[in-house]
Amino acid sequence: MAQNIYPIFEKMLQREDRETLLNQKGIMIWFTGLSGSGKSTLAIALERELHQKGILCRILDGDNIRSGINNNLGFSEADRTENIRRIAEVAKLFVDCGIVTLAAFISPTNAIRQMAAEIIGKEDFLEVYVSTPIEECEKRDVKGLYAKARRGEIKDFTGISSPFEQPESPFITLDTSCQPLEESVKSLMAKIMPRIKNNKQ
Ligand code: ADX
Repeated sequence: MAQNIYPIFEKMLQREDRETLLNQKGIMIWFTGLSGSGKSTLAIALERELHQKGILCRILDGDNIRSGINNNLGFSEADRTENIRRIAEVAKLFVDCGIVTLAAFISPTNAIRQMAAEIIGKEDFLEVYVSTPIEECEKRDVKGLYAKARRGEIKDFTGISSPFEQPESPFITLDTSCQPLEESVKSLMAKIMPRIKNNKQ
């Protein structure tokens, strides 16, 4: 498959060089949960907090990736797998730059999340399960999609006509229906900062 391809990685600067430059470790913070569970809100709030502490971050999120690099993909199992595969490959480049990379995608199955972890590297992959119950997500229905899915206007909708599997051993679990945003960000910061700054502070 990779015939006549000669990688030149040994000539390139290494990840450690970039991490030293930035004085931080590149890690992947992978939010998973239902649509409307609060993944993006949490990622945005965490990014702001990290940025304030001088950490270089980048968010990759469902709606903007799906209107760009993945604009040819839908919500079948195969398309969701391809969606996450591409995202994981892109995220890996960010992590390799020493950037704290935050991903907010439903990523509904253990197999899909495992694939992402394997592409990015299990050592660097911190899974954040946003466990907000479907009743609450549906009540919020920020984008009006649950109502459409109930009316049968959207097929394969996660939690309604397409499965969501709970992660087996997440790094942290947060339920935005019973914990204020600031508290969730606080517990995230406490668990994540030591992984970013293990050589300083
Ligand atoms: S994933 O399953 O492939 O990880 P992703 O996070 O990229 O999904 O996209 C989810 C977003 O797409 C939802 O938040 C919602 O706005 C929108 N969406 C549109 N159709 C569906 C669907 N059938 N199931 C889930 N989300 C959908």
